[in-house]
Amino acid sequence: MATELILPQPDDWHVHVRDGALLNTVVPYSARQFARALIMPNLQPPVTTCEQALAYRQRILAAVPSGQSFNPLMTLYLTDHTDPLDITRAALNECILAAKLYPAGATTHSEAGVTAIERLDPVLDTLQEQGLVLCVHGEVTDADVDLFDREAVFIDRILAPLVRRFPALKVVLEHITTREGVEFVRDSSGLIAATITPQHLLYNRNALFRGGLRPHYYCLPVLKRETHRQALLEAATSGNPKFFLGTDSAPHRRQDKESACGCAGCFSAPAALELYAEAFEHAGALDQLAGFASHYGADFYGLARNTATVTLVRDRWQVPETLPCNGDTLIPLAAGETLSWRLRD
Ligand code: DOR
Ligand code: ZN
Repeated sequence: MATELILPQPDDWHVHVRDGALLNTVVPYSARQFARALIMPNLQPPVTTCEQALAYRQRILAAVPSGQSFNPLMTLYLTDHTDPLDITRAALNECILAAKLYPAGATTHSEAGVTAIERLDPVLDTLQEQGLVLCVHGEVTDADVDLFDREAVFIDRILAPLVRRFPALKVVLEHITTREGVEFVRDSSGLIAATITPQHLLYNRNALFRGGLRPHYYCLPVLKRETHRQALLEAATSGNPKFFLGTDSAPHRRQDKESACGCAGCFSAPAALELYAEAFEHAGALDQLAGFASHYGADFYGLARNTATVTLVRDRWQVPETLPCNGDTLIPLAAGETLSWRLRD
């Protein structure tokens, strides 16, 4: 049995690092694990312009511990009022890679998101023309659609028509959670890809209710049935370059999760690569981890692959129950669980 696994340095193609004091606490966890990360723009107020994105990037860089290198790559938050000129400007800046579509009301800080997809046509035209990527939170928000069906319905009603109308647009369906998501991406053109989180590979929806309500396993899109987890695991370990790593690490303070109306998001950054290794090993596919974690995302975004390496050591360890955060507490994903691989510093 292998005791060491050497991988090209991985990248995280979907992460929330927040702002202010929380940013300073969480950035070091991502910087320890990843060479580059695609930073989500759902701050309050949202990051809608190039100037805001580049200023935010500087705040992230200032939080990287000295001696570590970490390249935050930025996204613009699309609203009903996004100016296509901002997309043209973003395309000229190598630190901005994508624009993020949040359907209004779909998730944390999505109030400023898009209320009707048709409004976005001029922006989508410009994204397509400039070769910037559209990152999509793929859930409808209609109150009459069951929460567990929101991704599948989004694909049918919104995404499939969009991809037909903009056939040269590069699209990442973020944090896919369903068999329908896997099949749509797999059967679409090479311009359509998906990220997959560690929680959707490791857990099904039972994790939310094991012995009681478990808010630290609540994220959006919500965990689904086991059959969907199996489909995601097959996709992630298949060697198909359309599926790559995006943690969706989304820290919230403990009291904001353990609340009568708890926030959505799993804070996976502290053990991200180890969690993926756990999932891949259970699937008997550790040999596919390098492609998924280190190659396919960079290839999709048209960036060079990382040349440095990281080492995972076979070493059982327990994910901390809590992590300090400026007088508050963060609960990492898989808190208290024992993992088989540890990232060597
Ligand atoms: O669980 C989630 N948390 N899903 C999202 O789409 C957003 C994220 C957050 O920012 O907290
Ligand atoms: Zn996210």
